[in-house]
Amino acid sequence: MAIALPSANLKYRIMNPLRIGNIEVKLPIIQGGMGVAISLSGLASAVANAGGIGVISAVAIGMTEPDYMKNYREANKRGLRKEIQKARKLTDGVLGVNIMVAVTDYEELLTVALEEEIDVVIMGAGLPLKMPQYVTDRGFDKVHTKFIPKVSSAKAAKVIFSYWAKTFNHVPDAVVVEGPMAGGHLGFKKEDLGSEMVPLSQLVEETVREISYFEKEFKKEIPVIAGGGIYTGEDMYKIMQHGAKGVKMGSRFVTTKECDASIKFKEMYIKASEEDIVIIDSPVGLPGRAIRNNFVDQINLGNTKPFKCPWKCLKSCDFRKVPYCIAQALFNAASGNLEEGFAFAGSKAFMARKIQPVKEVVFEIKIDYYKTKYAEYLKNFIGSRFDIETLDLSQVIPVFPQIKLA
Ligand SMILES: Cc1cc2nc3c(=O)[nH]c(=O)nc-3n(C[C@H](O)[C@H](O)[C@H](O)COP(=O)(O)O)c2cc1C
Repeated sequence: MAIALPSANLKYRIMNPLRIGNIEVKLPIIQGGMGVAISLSGLASAVANAGGIGVISAVAIGMTEPDYMKNYREANKRGLRKEIQKARKLTDGVLGVNIMVAVTDYEELLTVALEEEIDVVIMGAGLPLKMPQYVTDRGFDKVHTKFIPKVSSAKAAKVIFSYWAKTFNHVPDAVVVEGPMAGGHLGFKKEDLGSEMVPLSQLVEETVREISYFEKEFKKEIPVIAGGGIYTGEDMYKIMQHGAKGVKMGSRFVTTKECDASIKFKEMYIKASEEDIVIIDSPVGLPGRAIRNNFVDQINLGNTKPFKCPWKCLKSCDFRKVPYCIAQALFNAASGNLEEGFAFAGSKAFMARKIQPVKEVVFEIKIDYYKTKYAEYLKNFIGSRFDIETLDLSQVIPVFPQIKLA
């Protein structure tokens, strides 16, 4: 049954673009930086080409270089520079680098990203309070890059923004707030990951409220971006109703053709059931969410995996005491050696069904987002008897956007 609709606006826009300073991102999605060597130039450029922000993960990126064990600092810097330059050749879109504050070469990696004029840097796993000389010498206004801290609470956002305001007379350009359902390291205590978890919607609303003070004070828009457990267009639409101007998605982009991890890593996602996604203790000192395998079972039982530490890559890692090397385990997994590693994954990673091009994933997200948005509109229009499951887009949407899939 075709439903007569109140308006058929030819210029109807599915999603509003995300604005970060003078950068406009058509698709308000930041692809989560995924290490070690999971989101490199391949995935980042594909997401940027699809209109979002494609993000290269900087952590231990030098593991892709032959001399990492001897020359780790140089290998990391070289590896990051190479991937940024490679990605730039593949896209004119918006590119970012994800840098963990918890790594010992945080400032060096950040400087490489700034020298390469990356569009945005996302700084997580710690409070990004220090800025490298590259910025302090020039001043923020002379630097192309936009700064986006990743936090797990409005309180953490306030600490960072207040510190930056006082120290640099400048505040970050956007903020990512990531909830407890994310993949990778989580900014929550293990005991806060049970049934009493704070919902992402609450974290987003609290952060929007906190940040509005700095928006007024510094007379600039500071978008709040939500992350963690966002997988579908419906998830995206719903969280944006709580004030998020964009979303950060990691797991959803793992099972793409362009994701830089090995096929075995991607297949782990496709094979995983909901029960396989578990919490682990990481040597970073934070809990993490990952897909259960033999390696995860062993470490959760307290068994150790002997390793050699060429350098202390994480500030908080006591390499003499930790049961395994997380950087090595993640790199092994990304390279397809899942006997000696494991895959980080968000709470919804089990929804992966197949390996698809990024373009197709983005198309699905857009359709789903539009469907949810339209269903809500119809519900308001014709009442609550409306059932989203029966919604056939081609019948009810007068001007359905024609997005071609290559
Ligand atoms: C496989 C994987 C690796 C990740 N690696 C990193 C990382 O190296 N640094 C980081 O700050 N976040 C990392 N993350 C977190 C992502 O950037 C992103 O915030 C997260 O995936 C969002 O949750 P979602 O997976 O539910 O979408 C990782 C996540 C995944 C799934």
